[in-house]
Amino acid sequence: MTLQNNSRVLVTGGTGFLGAALVRALVTAGHRVRILDNNLRGKPRRLGELLSEVELIEADIRDSEAVANACRDIDTVAHLAFINGTETFYSQPGLVMDVGVRGMLTVLDGCAKHSVASMMLMSSSEVYQRADLVPTPEDVPLVIPDPRNPRYSYGGAKAISELLALHGHGYRPAAVRIVRPHNVYGPDMGFKHVIPQLSMRISDLAETHETGEIVPLPIRGDGRQTRAFVHVDDFTDGLLLVMQRGEDSGIYHIGTREEVTIADLAHRIAAGLDREVELIPSEMPVGETDRRCPDIGKLESLGYQPTRTLSVGVTEVARWYRDNRHLHTQNEGDLS
Ligand SMILES: NC(=O)c1ccc[n+]([C@@H]2O[C@H](COP(=O)([O-])OP(=O)(O)OC[C@H]3O[C@@H](n4cnc5c(N)ncnc54)[C@H](O)[C@@H]3O)[C@@H](O)[C@H]2O)c1
Repeated sequence: MTLQNNSRVLVTGGTGFLGAALVRALVTAGHRVRILDNNLRGKPRRLGELLSEVELIEADIRDSEAVANACRDIDTVAHLAFINGTETFYSQPGLVMDVGVRGMLTVLDGCAKHSVASMMLMSSSEVYQRADLVPTPEDVPLVIPDPRNPRYSYGGAKAISELLALHGHGYRPAAVRIVRPHNVYGPDMGFKHVIPQLSMRISDLAETHETGEIVPLPIRGDGRQTRAFVHVDDFTDGLLLVMQRGEDSGIYHIGTREEVTIADLAHRIAAGLDREVELIPSEMPVGETDRRCPDIGKLESLGYQPTRTLSVGVTEVARWYRDNRHLHTQNEGDLS
């Protein structure tokens, strides 16, 4: 069962960064959308004028009754509700596991109760931790290098969710698809990610340095780690392709092949803010990944072609964060 015209879709985590982008794309394509989110890190304002066109349920993904009710009359569930953000993996690993695993079980129970035909689980590239093969294809092993390190609460909960989604929990929707996003970025993506944090720190530091003066910028590690960042618009195009044409039990990367070092990224962000920076390296927390870049061949075979380049996209996002610093709240993800 694929996403057909005029489907009824439940998006969990639908006021989040990726969820809101998916909701927008689904409504634009003519689908009827219901959202379930507790707005811990979701923001209904992300939906703007679409708010009147969707049904918004404010509830916890661990609340089995609320989730079951949200699954009533639904054809497809897109399950995105999860605790995201590297800092939170270290500071609140129990919450990350609880929302991740209990949330997945609750969604499957809701699908069972209302015979939901298809489900898409948003997993993560974090299931690989340090992949030996880069660009990384979808079939390399999932790894938890050390269960004592709270860092792996997130990757571990995603791996458990994948197993639950694929093998069922009493009931399995007729079509299950799994997406592993690789570093999606865009305006209003939250504040606990590398691009927003670098953008805001450079903007703050720039205020205490004359125009033309080089700004000293402390960074985590030495800046040689790499990532491949995909713009949210390209990401959402890829996600719809998976939901429309992906095979049952299919696992798909969504990302780009444009791999950059964090140092290069910092310089590009600074250039987007019309500044120059000198990087000051520091100690890297244990468990960080040196290199990450997806093989996106499987998604390309469905017709995926990312078109937004990092230099253009990162300037747009850096300026968004410079101009919207007032939206920054310290309690993102700190509730339990
Ligand atoms: N952004 C990325 O680059 C990226 C990369 C890999 C995986 N992902 C995954 O994609 C999904 C969406 O990520 P995002 O970047 O939009 O993050 P996000 O934090 O903006 O969205 C997650 C949403 O889940 C909601 N949520 C959290 N706990 C909840 C709970 N207990 N009950 C109900 N809702 C709850 C939040 O309020 C938020 O709206 C997540 O599953 C995330 O793990 C994102």
